[in-house]
Amino acid sequence: METDLYTNMNIIDQLATTYREKFGYAPTHIARAPGRVNLLGEHVDYNNGFVLPAAIDRATYVAFSPTNARHSMLWALDLNQQVSFSVETLASKTQANSSPLPEWALYPAGVMNVLHEEQLSLLNMTAVFSSNVPQGSGLSSSASIEMAFMIAWQMLGGWTLPPMKRALLGQRAENQYVGVNCGIMDQFASACGVENKLLLLDCRSLEWKTVPLPENVSIVIADTTVRRKLTSGEYNKRRSACEEAVRLLQQDLPNIKSLRDVGVEEFNGLAKKLPKEIEKRARHVVEEIGRSNQAEALLEAGDIQNFGRLMNECHVSLRDLYEVSCPELNVMVNIAQSLDGCCGARLTGAGFGGCTVNLVAKEKAESFAQALAKGYEAETGLHPEIYISHASNGAGLLK
Ligand code: GLA
Repeated sequence: METDLYTNMNIIDQLATTYREKFGYAPTHIARAPGRVNLLGEHVDYNNGFVLPAAIDRATYVAFSPTNARHSMLWALDLNQQVSFSVETLASKTQANSSPLPEWALYPAGVMNVLHEEQLSLLNMTAVFSSNVPQGSGLSSSASIEMAFMIAWQMLGGWTLPPMKRALLGQRAENQYVGVNCGIMDQFASACGVENKLLLLDCRSLEWKTVPLPENVSIVIADTTVRRKLTSGEYNKRRSACEEAVRLLQQDLPNIKSLRDVGVEEFNGLAKKLPKEIEKRARHVVEEIGRSNQAEALLEAGDIQNFGRLMNECHVSLRDLYEVSCPELNVMVNIAQSLDGCCGARLTGAGFGGCTVNLVAKEKAESFAQALAKGYEAETGLHPEIYISHASNGAGLLK
């Protein structure tokens, strides 16, 4: 049940083999960029709040070499699909043969586009890539693809950008090229991850630090296996609602720039002036920023019970106020919270399906995972994937 190096070694071996079969020689390099799980501070990054993610031990791997060909050729092993594009075809989002880029290729192409905008030296590559971050699961498979290709193009171009700069460029690629108005959290965690540590990021100043996870707890990730379509539309709507809330609140609080600047008490005093739906969305953000503000002190003090309580409150708020949960996520969270050893459980990531994150007493983690899988399956008929995760390092070259 525990992911380990074997899973990752299998992927790397498979990539190298496929690469050799396709191109007739071994790849010169392998880049890796992890997914992430977020413990607290959900849907607050684009409101300038604080987030507490960790890079996880599941990642996207890219086996690649430079090529003199006029296009980069990318093979997506998991989809058995290939695309080729170059700086000349980026603006039209097409391939070398003029057909439109498939959805999945917008991520690496978006990265190439943003690097081209930055006027960084870009070489074409032949690449085979694969990921064990499940797609659409709330574990940032998109950011891990972006950050892995960023590392690959960095290597080939001979320049070096600081990890936070790579994260910002990845976010820009996703905002402008893919069209998802995401915040900085996912690319940040994938770029800056630190083994065995949680990462506390101030999304306004971009200052961050590591926070230790107390040794007696494990992070257990539970995938409902439910995937929602049209997530980006709902996500962008939530973001617009927050912007609308700021615009309306500025009538009374002219100095605020984002919901980060509004305290809970202050918000309570003005809430009734907002349309109901906008009020609910903004209340989640204001209260969640309040919760994430407490995270560091609680973790430093090893107060997992109270930290877990904040995670549970976060889930209720995402479910009832932000309305980004779904029945399967609620079932997974309810069962988890009833099990022995569970300190806190909630949906993680954007929502609408995907995974929950659970903080569990270390010695109970295995039995918790088994009981959760059994309970979820009995209630929904779905086979969940549940695993104990470890915080990993951020994106880099393996070879
Ligand atoms: C997605 C986005 C992030 C963040 C989360 C919700 O993962 O990419 O920027 O907004 O949703 O916290």
